[in-house]
Amino acid sequence: MAGLRGSTLAVLGAGKIGSAIIRATRPCVSKVIGTGRRPETLRAVEALGAEATRSNREAVERADVVIVSVKPHHFAAVAREIRGSVEGKTVVSVVAGVKLSTLRAALPGAEVYRAMPNINAVIARSTTALAPHDARSTPGGGLAEELFRCLGSVYWIPEEWMDAWTALVGSGPAFFAEIVDALVLGAVMVGMPRELAYAALLDAMKATAEHLESRSVHPLELRDEVTTPAGTTIHGLIKLESEGVKAGLMKVVEASTRRGRELGALIDAAVRRNLTP
Ligand SMILES: NC(=O)c1ccc[n+]([C@@H]2O[C@H](COP(=O)([O-])OP(=O)(O)OC[C@H]3O[C@@H](n4cnc5c(N)ncnc54)[C@H](OP(=O)(O)O)[C@@H]3O)[C@@H](O)[C@H]2O)c1
Repeated sequence: MAGLRGSTLAVLGAGKIGSAIIRATRPCVSKVIGTGRRPETLRAVEALGAEATRSNREAVERADVVIVSVKPHHFAAVAREIRGSVEGKTVVSVVAGVKLSTLRAALPGAEVYRAMPNINAVIARSTTALAPHDARSTPGGGLAEELFRCLGSVYWIPEEWMDAWTALVGSGPAFFAEIVDALVLGAVMVGMPRELAYAALLDAMKATAEHLESRSVHPLELRDEVTTPAGTTIHGLIKLESEGVKAGLMKVVEASTRRGRELGALIDAAVRRNLTP
């Protein structure tokens, strides 16, 4: 096979994340085939410059690499449809909660990976976790990684961290959006126009992220550099502490991770029950 560029990719379930994957990976592969059940889904796939079919089996038979991006409750039906056609193929599941052991049982003979991209895939800036198909294998490289690099950045993680990843990086954009909204409202409250506050805040947040990355110091070093004695920052920081914002954010990640574990256990058990027709 001629590497990723010469490959055909099948995206099973071209919904929100599936169509973002199609759009971002289209320039990286030779051909993309997207699947769905409704005519609107198939038309949307064609509008992205990919081939569309209702048949997951046909898509898999013609593909070198397969991404499964249906909702968890549709996973078992899709797995039953394609299980005879995946031998020797790379199959990456982005389906939340479905464990690698279940993927292996559902798709014997395939090289299976579990991935967790985030919504920033829509602008080809996803931060994606990949868990290796086999705990003994050395992660890194391969078609799965190449493919998700077209969508943004890739981190290899052990499967046991997938729920924490989902909380921090998967749900992260929703938490960041809330924080942005709160800070903008604060600026509006003291008289700044909303549009200006929004644009300036996004700019400052992006620059702060780049600043932290470039200096590789602990975030609190940067905080202390900004914090002049008796100045404006320390007056804001005491409010942050007294309102419990920091502890609150820690608990956000903890609660979201716990919910991911609960849901994952339910989803995985349901998928296993439904794997046998
Ligand atoms: N959205 C995110 O940001 C995100 C991020 C990471 C992971 N995920 C995971 O990605 C999966 C999809 O999420 P989503 O938000 O993209 O959901 P979604 O928009 O509902 O997309 C699912 C798609 O699957 C299609 N589908 C359902 N049954 C099918 C079948 N038997 N054969 C082929 N296609 C079928 C549906 O198309 P029809 O309606 O035409 O059938 C729909 O377009 C979930 O498991 C989720 O955990 C999502």
